[in-house]
Amino acid sequence: MSRDTQLLPSVVQSIGNTPLVELSRLTCNLPGRLLVKLEYLNPGLSKKDRIARQIMEDAEADGALQPGQTVVELTSGNTGTGLAIVCGVKGYPFVAVMSKGNSSERARMMRALGAEVVLVDQLPGSPPGQVSGGDLELVEQETQRIVKARGAFRADQFHHRGNFRAHYLHTGPEILRQAGMPLDAFCDFVGTGGTFAGCAAALKEANPATQCYVVEPEGAAVLAGEPATNPNHRIQGGGYSMSDLEFVKPEYVDGYIQVGDEEAIRVARRLAKEEGVLAGFSSGANVAAALRLLQGPCKGKTVVTLINDSGLKYLSTDLYE
Ligand SMILES: Cc1ncc(COP(=O)(O)O)c(C=O)c1O
Repeated sequence: MSRDTQLLPSVVQSIGNTPLVELSRLTCNLPGRLLVKLEYLNPGLSKKDRIARQIMEDAEADGALQPGQTVVELTSGNTGTGLAIVCGVKGYPFVAVMSKGNSSERARMMRALGAEVVLVDQLPGSPPGQVSGGDLELVEQETQRIVKARGAFRADQFHHRGNFRAHYLHTGPEILRQAGMPLDAFCDFVGTGGTFAGCAAALKEANPATQCYVVEPEGAAVLAGEPATNPNHRIQGGGYSMSDLEFVKPEYVDGYIQVGDEEAIRVARRLAKEEGVLAGFSSGANVAAALRLLQGPCKGKTVVTLINDSGLKYLSTDLYE
């Protein structure tokens, strides 16, 4: 389905079907091809619009969500923005609970879209812009309190199957259709792991030889079995040092790649300058990991990854100076 040939009944139906683009400038000295899915072109400027729509539609269908019921979610901003859009269009009140460590654009964007935003203080000593697993634990406690107090539906992105299904049913199959060729490898920076697992399941179903790599921050690569020595990394949206992620099953994982803050930032800047793709930290990490695959185990192969969200969400940071 093309994005531009139909009149859509609401902005919710414009979620997904994002372009798949080859980055041939960044790879000009490398054998192999790098394909990226431009998820920042979703209406909330991130891939998380997809799971917002899927979780809400699944919960409406199975009766977990009642008409007019308040929806609550713990978010680093992107899932909350997606839910603010979907809840706004469908007529559900929405409360986003977020750490103060996430960039301020995110809270403003959610409020503009009609959400109530509850900001939770970071742990003493946690630097702004660097949300750790410990900071997230405080956000979790506040989320649980609000859900109980308001008799709300919790979107629950770390556990709700709609997160996996959004990518298994849509993102993965879209990549396969758009690429029109067998894919050798896929990599993705993991937060909940919904994107990684959903895409890996779909890609491996089509071609069991596709190698799928989990991307984690250097010093917080707990899925790879490393100790969390740097939980306060700068790659917002994931790398929470959680070793037990429901969606990330061992059969999806062929390897682990670690990317440092500096490398993620350097590649994000190159993406903007050389490819015209203005993206966030985690997209820089994804492309950095993909470039490493092309230089090493996937020399001469085709690697796919995602541009997770827009660089506009980070203008208050030093990502783009
Ligand atoms: C910018 C960004 N990158 C990466 C991720 C991780 O995606 P997932 O939760 O599907 O693992 C998120 C999740 O919120 C995100 O907002």
